[in-house]
Amino acid sequence: MLQSSTNGAEFIKRHIGPSDVDTQTMLANIGVPSLNELIEKTVPNNIRLKKPMNIPAGLSEFEMLQSLKAIGEKNIIAKNFIGQGYYGTITPSVILRNIFENPGWYTQYTPYQAEIAQGRLESLLNFQTMVADLTGLPIANASLLDEATAAAEAMAMIFNHVNKSDNITQPKLFVDQAIFQQTKDVLITRANPIGIELTEGDYQATTIDATFFGAILQYPNSKGSIEAYETFINQVHAVGGLVIVITDILALTLLKSPGELNADVAVGNTQRFGVPMGFGGPHAAFFATKDEFKRGMPGRLIGVSVDAQGNRALRMALQTREQHIKREKATSNICTAQALLANMAVMYAVYHGPHGLKKIAEKVHGLTQGLDQQLQSLSIQQNNAFYFDTLLVNGFDTTALKQLATAANINFNYSHEGFVSITLDETTSVSDVQEIVALFEKLIGKKAAAQNAVVKNANIQSALVRTSAYLLHPVFNTHHSETQMMRYIKHLENKDLSLNTSMISLGSCTMKLNAATEMIPVSWPAFGGLHPFAPNHQTLGYQELTKELSAFLCETTGFTACSLQPNSGAQGEYAGLLTIRSYHQALNESHRNIVLIPISAHGTNPASAVMAGFKVVVVACDAAGNIDVDDLKAKAALHAANLGALMVTYPSTHGVFEETIIDICQTIHDFGGMVYMDGANMNAQVGLTSPGNIGADVCHLNLHKTFAIPHGGGGPGMGPICVNDKLAPYLPGHNYNGDGSNAVSAAPIGSASILLISYAYIKMLGAEGLTLSTAYAIMNANYMKSRLEKCYTILYAGKNGTCAHEFIIDLRPFKASAGIEAEDVAKRLIDYGFHAPTMSFPVAGTIMIEPTESEDKAELDRFCDALIGIYEEIKAIENGQMDKIDNPLKNAPHTQKVICANEWTHAYSRQTAAFPLPYIIESKFWPTVARVNNTHGDRNLICTCEPVASYA
Ligand SMILES: Cc1ncc(COP(=O)(O)O)c(C=O)c1O
Repeated sequence: MLQSSTNGAEFIKRHIGPSDVDTQTMLANIGVPSLNELIEKTVPNNIRLKKPMNIPAGLSEFEMLQSLKAIGEKNIIAKNFIGQGYYGTITPSVILRNIFENPGWYTQYTPYQAEIAQGRLESLLNFQTMVADLTGLPIANASLLDEATAAAEAMAMIFNHVNKSDNITQPKLFVDQAIFQQTKDVLITRANPIGIELTEGDYQATTIDATFFGAILQYPNSKGSIEAYETFINQVHAVGGLVIVITDILALTLLKSPGELNADVAVGNTQRFGVPMGFGGPHAAFFATKDEFKRGMPGRLIGVSVDAQGNRALRMALQTREQHIKREKATSNICTAQALLANMAVMYAVYHGPHGLKKIAEKVHGLTQGLDQQLQSLSIQQNNAFYFDTLLVNGFDTTALKQLATAANINFNYSHEGFVSITLDETTSVSDVQEIVALFEKLIGKKAAAQNAVVKNANIQSALVRTSAYLLHPVFNTHHSETQMMRYIKHLENKDLSLNTSMISLGSCTMKLNAATEMIPVSWPAFGGLHPFAPNHQTLGYQELTKELSAFLCETTGFTACSLQPNSGAQGEYAGLLTIRSYHQALNESHRNIVLIPISAHGTNPASAVMAGFKVVVVACDAAGNIDVDDLKAKAALHAANLGALMVTYPSTHGVFEETIIDICQTIHDFGGMVYMDGANMNAQVGLTSPGNIGADVCHLNLHKTFAIPHGGGGPGMGPICVNDKLAPYLPGHNYNGDGSNAVSAAPIGSASILLISYAYIKMLGAEGLTLSTAYAIMNANYMKSRLEKCYTILYAGKNGTCAHEFIIDLRPFKASAGIEAEDVAKRLIDYGFHAPTMSFPVAGTIMIEPTESEDKAELDRFCDALIGIYEEIKAIENGQMDKIDNPLKNAPHTQKVICANEWTHAYSRQTAAFPLPYIIESKFWPTVARVNNTHGDRNLICTCEPVASYA
């Protein structure tokens, strides 16, 4: 029995929008007497859970924070000199408070509606400029998930570029032995299914021939050595290969850039630009390349365009290039990336400016030289002739050193056999260096010489000292006082519509409340300060938390094992499909490489399938939007011998609980395949049914949808996978835990620190609140549907006429009747103060609305009023009261500049344009640009901050 939201745990009524009184009105509107009845009509009886989930009752916000504090205290924040891609860093407080902890930044969605996203688009353009400048390559994307996957993306891009036809003549990639172990592991995982052969070796002792499509090097390398790669890069180019250089963003302020070394791609991580380590993530990886590769680049790319008035306006560029849009023709599945963390990292560069960054790098390099000198005076052998921040030492009892260091809570890196590497960072102080020296003194039994003055850049070979300038643009040379910085951040925030303005009803994206209490612990050093490769005894808090969270997620999905490694939904798909691939291989059935995917699936599904080595066979949908079961059965039978899997989203991407799902899963199993369930729509399942219960074998969960992690303007995300016993042995491993096979992310837990959010969410709602949230998500959607179906055609519904947690409005008829397209409605919604719903997915010419449980009746009504207002405007065009071309929809959105201009030439009033309904007067949200011209931006591609002169 579903109780009302005001009973039960305290947090339930904070999370769920509608009050008890409103619930009754809303149910009456839908035409059902109770929430129970609505759910019975909506969720097929044969898939309903028979008993409540085994998740404890919800804690209050206060209790939850207390309990997380206690868990955090079980983590030990040691002094970390491990390096290997993760470094101590100082998050400037102005960035911590105004971005990291600010819903105006973290609740934004990916900037598909460019007119209300100019702030973060500007910041991401700054990010691209920063990366392009520091890497010395002309074009950079707006972030990737982590360094290791960025390297794998680069590998796939150059592989496809060099091997243009299906006849692969250059299948080999040379991997230098001195790249980070976690990167090697992800390369191995990603190479195999797509037919890439990896050859590992020492770049100095390798001959590259024409069977290689490229090489991958690290600069400085995993041991900390700065190698001179130019000759080798030229050799690779000479045989028609391309070169990827993995690099360190801070070191590049002192080092000749990869572009100047003639590298083709540079990748790396921006974590050490002010983003806490967080036990492995989230952080923004970067990807920069030469202009000729831009159409094959993975991830999102921000570009400069113009708006309808000819003003400068930003947008996401070359979207047809986006890999998830290319579906099975894709070479990458990146969708969610790390926008929020990219924004933090670039703001760090904006705040410090080029001189500040260089000073930080010089301090790190100087302290490293000082340490080197003192260790040498103790006769410790240091093996890096040239280095930036890392010493590689040996010639002593490493086990004894490890004991001494561990006892003092000092972490070094012991992964290079027989050696110890010590990496310093921005947080290292002179006294930290003294502490390290003291450890060695104790070990050796003698005193080090006093430290000499350190020489700037002394340990970088002169040919590789950076002489080229970077970050000359005014944005990196203006906001250096806190007042300026605070205002710059606020200035950008004001341009963007976030959840702290109004509801964002993006179907398939679940933009629910990201409660402050869920977010607060993410800032705590007890969770932020841990290195992902810290020794186990220091991470007991994380271990407890992730164990409990995994158990909750298994309970929610009806599965038995969970991997928290994938750091986006698409990564989860990839990881899940790999478990299926490994399972078939273990049964000597590697030929099972066909995956059936309904036409309505999200583009990442086929993209992930191809990356995991499967061939995609598309299954049709019927007129009611359901999977065409006859077609599915026919195709399963046709491919019976080679059937690997079905990928299915449930409830469907059309927002319907298909009655046939059990039959569908059974069919796939009968033919020897496994069922992968895309968990994007879990917000309609939790507590009512589950993937395991329905008959799936594996699913991913978008924790950044159902489990309250905010979208951050396009990331971070977390896409853990849950599996049944059959697939459990094949979950992603990690070298940190002794076995790196099937690793899909750089860190053992892809983005560990944001798991706190989902953990807190589950702990505060408990089984009852989680189930009720699902029921209210369904109720809110059906309430909106019941109001809007009086005007619009709603595509698809379940057999009793109800929708799941989302529904699709068909706008296609208005094209013929009024010349109005989905885009016009989306842009007009901005004038009404709202973000458009999901556009043209899964059906072109439609919008898909998902209100979530967190919105109250008043907000839902405002949104319905807006859509009804727009409908009336369309009617006015249809009946000739409004002009077909000069109308508020075609001209939307209207900026303040347009409304306040002395001249007003339109056939409708300014008030109609800007204040079409009374509620808007109270809370007008002004877009800062008018409708953005998409084609102009793609034809004149500019993806970095323009030269200052161009603004004039
Ligand atoms: C149905 C569906 N599947 C998969 C994804 C991919 O998730 P992510 O963006 O986290 O990679 C999405 C993203 O919106 C989605 O809607």
